[in-house]
This record gives sequence, C-alpha cells and structure tokens, in this order.
Amino acid sequence: MKHVNCGTYREMSRQAAGCVAELLREKPEALLCFAAGTTPMGLFEELIQMQARAEVDMTRAWFAGLDEWVGLGPADAGSCIQVMFDSFYTPAGIPRDHIHVFDGMAADMTRECRVMEKWIADHGGIELTVLGIGMNGHIGFNEPGVPETRGCVVVDLDEVTKAISVKYFGKQIPVHQGVSIGMDLLSSAPEVILLADGVKKAPIVAATLSGPVTCRVPSSLLQKHPRAVLLTDADAAGLLPNLD
Ligand code: PGA
Repeated sequence: MKHVNCGTYREMSRQAAGCVAELLREKPEALLCFAAGTTPMGLFEELIQMQARAEVDMTRAWFAGLDEWVGLGPADAGSCIQVMFDSFYTPAGIPRDHIHVFDGMAADMTRECRVMEKWIADHGGIELTVLGIGMNGHIGFNEPGVPETRGCVVVDLDEVTKAISVKYFGKQIPVHQGVSIGMDLLSSAPEVILLADGVKKAPIVAATLSGPVTCRVPSSLLQKHPRAVLLTDADAAGLLPNLD
C-alpha cells in the first residue's frame, strides 16, 4: 500500500476525486463503491463540483453501497443509505437503477448479502473503492477480528464502533450489527483508495501502514493490495515512522 501525505483535507479530497475522474474517463460504466462516514464528504463535494464543470460524468457509472447499520433504513438520519443519497447519489444525479445498497431493515440479512454479491458480480466486479478507516481499523463494517470472509458479511459491532455511532445519529441509539461488503470483495477491486484525516486517526493510520498485517486491524489487510493508496492529511500522517 502506498501512502500520500496530501497536507490538507481539501487536497486529500481533491486527489481522491482526481483518481475517480481518471478512472471514469477510461471506464465510464465502472462499478464503484464509496464509503459513507464523515471522511469522504470532501471527496463527494469535489466530484459534484467537477461534474458541474463537465470534468467528470458519474451518471453512467454503477454504485454499490459499502455497508449499513442493521435495523436502520432511509428514514433514519445517519443511516448509510440516508447519508449517501443526501450527500452524493442525489446531488450527483446518479440514476436510481445504477445504485444497489443493503436494506438494513430487511428481515433476512443473509439474503441481503447474497443479493449484493450477485449484483456486484453481474456488474463486472468493483473497479474502484474509496474507503474510510474506523478508529479501530474497521473497513465498512469489517470489524476487528472478522476474518477475511468471502462475499458480504453480517457482523456484531465492535464496542468502539457502537460508541462512535453517536456522531452519526446525534444521539445514542441501539445498534448491534452491521452488514458490509467483505474484505475479500473490497480487496479484489483493482483500485483501492483509503482516506484518513485528523490527528485522531494518526494512531490507526500508523497501524494500517506499518503495523502487522492482521484481521485485528482490518485496514492493515490492505497492505497486501498491489494498488491500494492511503491518502491522508498531515495530521493523520503524524505518527508514521517516515513522513513523506
Ligand atoms: P469516519 O468513519 O469517516 O466517519 O471517520 C470511518 C469509518 O468508520 O469507516
């Protein structure tokens, strides 16, 4: 995995947007997978502005939703589906039938997983994924300790994830499980972009890049990926042994 210290959050978001745009110029109908969360918001804004300037066309691309809180749906503020539609899919004008997301309220989560796996396969596999890194190193809801399972996974949420969930919902709500595209499917994407900013992410960035490769830190599993790039601001790069 390569690391690029972009200096600022804005520049990190710009560089990520540049990578997405470059891919879509070559492959306008590629299948992409973007994380929700706070970190990619600057990327979404950049991409939407670039599209308004006709520098990228995202409307022919396909989008697989990375994850969802089990039990939450579009009416729940802070659910991944609500965040992604409001912050990205709708303002970017992505046709509804180009988007497939987990239904966190479905009665049968195993079925949700199989349907997502088939949808991804039917659309040629994920070409590029943009991921955040949780404070505990989770990727989507691939929580610490979750093995590199095949396909999509339903997992019990880590205590760190449950505690941090308050920032998305504005209050503590009972969340126990998540459904996520699994590490093997994410790792099979030819291009993987990880984003992390802020001093609070510095320890997990260091563990991701220079710690042991272990499922206890799921983001470290991407060290093995030949084309993964971790874009950070200067603060998140602060604990790396060799600053670039
Ligand atoms: P964040 O979340 O972007 O809100 O920091 C990252 C994650 O938990 O995957």
